[in-house]
Amino acid sequence: MFKENNKFQKFESKVWLSSPTMHGPEIKYVKEAYETNWMSTVGKNINEVERMVCETIGCKYAVALSAGTASLHLAMKLAGMEAYGMPKVGHGALEGKKVFCSDMTFDATVNPVVYEGGEPVFIDTEYDTWNMDPAALEKAFEIYPDTKVVVIAHLYGTPGKVDELNAIIKKHNAILVEDAAESMGATYKGIQTGAFGKYNTISFNGNKIITGSAGGCFLTDDEESANKVRKWSTQARENAAWYQHEELGYNYRMSNVIAGVVRGQLPYLNEHIAQKKAIYERYKEGFKGLPVSMNPMDLENSEPNYWLSCLIIDKDAMCKQVRGEQDVCYVKEPGKTCPTEILEAISSINAEGRPIWKPMHMQPIYRLNPFVVRDGNGRARSNAYIAGEAADAGMDIFTRGLCLPSDNKMTVEQQDRIIEVIRACFE
Ligand SMILES: Cc1ncc(COP(=O)(O)O)c(C=O)c1O
Repeated sequence: MFKENNKFQKFESKVWLSSPTMHGPEIKYVKEAYETNWMSTVGKNINEVERMVCETIGCKYAVALSAGTASLHLAMKLAGMEAYGMPKVGHGALEGKKVFCSDMTFDATVNPVVYEGGEPVFIDTEYDTWNMDPAALEKAFEIYPDTKVVVIAHLYGTPGKVDELNAIIKKHNAILVEDAAESMGATYKGIQTGAFGKYNTISFNGNKIITGSAGGCFLTDDEESANKVRKWSTQARENAAWYQHEELGYNYRMSNVIAGVVRGQLPYLNEHIAQKKAIYERYKEGFKGLPVSMNPMDLENSEPNYWLSCLIIDKDAMCKQVRGEQDVCYVKEPGKTCPTEILEAISSINAEGRPIWKPMHMQPIYRLNPFVVRDGNGRARSNAYIAGEAADAGMDIFTRGLCLPSDNKMTVEQQDRIIEVIRACFE
């Protein structure tokens, strides 16, 4: 148990991990929707969001939806249909098919594979970007050569190794679906994430770099696919005077009210990125001399959006920490700490940190799914974990890492206090 340290004063109002930052124009566009009575899933705000998103990302088509998850679902449906043909009953486009998925991500990247009847195969993570390891992806194609769909996420706003991953995906004639929910505004070799895959997603969830309180966009350069998504997301209505349906539909369209918030937020994307970058740099400076490193943001080929700052504790500075499915305990040692102690310390001063997203291959719901590491079957290695040593990169980063308070509105003084509290954990 963490012993509360009275040396550090609690913040009066909570410092969040990443909360919405509003600016003013959002309410103007919401009010406009109200006053013009476009309180619906059509209206000027939606049109404007789609236009602005295309301009920002550099893609030809954006379809505004109720959530990033909705976009990923329809992306999976399209990818499945393209790879395997029209599903018999209108759903299950990936029925019985394997899909290669990022392992270190939020489960919304992966669940849509299952919505369409597919089987996620998790691909291990590399340390350079904390994203999908190209060497493990290559291995996965060796083991499952018939796989035709790959979904990659850019964790915490750091682009993955896009060129390497893309080369492997192309070589195997597979379709890339990009989950840029966390990385809006991040670029790889000058190109925005969300512009690399055939079907891509951004999210406007409340904790994202730009928010509508909810919402997301489906992105593509393919006109026919964009039209399909627009149709499916509004219950797949045919062009008839009455409700006519030939395909399975969904109620996935973005509301014009939510679009008002997104429309007001979009011009602030670069400002938010600059604030997040300053937070990251201050942590980096503040942790100098500690046995830790930050999540990878200083990269040759990419400019991340710095959405969340994270740290990872050096192996020999870790005290013993044991995590069950829901509980955790640790044994404090002088000069050593662990993510649990640091999170408790942060929480004791009324700030919010979070464990690293628990890898998908470690989640009970996906415990029977295949997991591929560089040299083959990742499941076969689990005995190493029982011996106390993390068996793969994802498990290792989850064990030793944590997400730090990264809110745009955090003051320098607040951040300094958080840094001091963390430094004290290493005493
Ligand atoms: C990597 C990732 N993918 C997908 C999503 C889903 O987006 P949404 O919440 O808009 O459905 C999220 C976050 O919520 C995410 O972090």
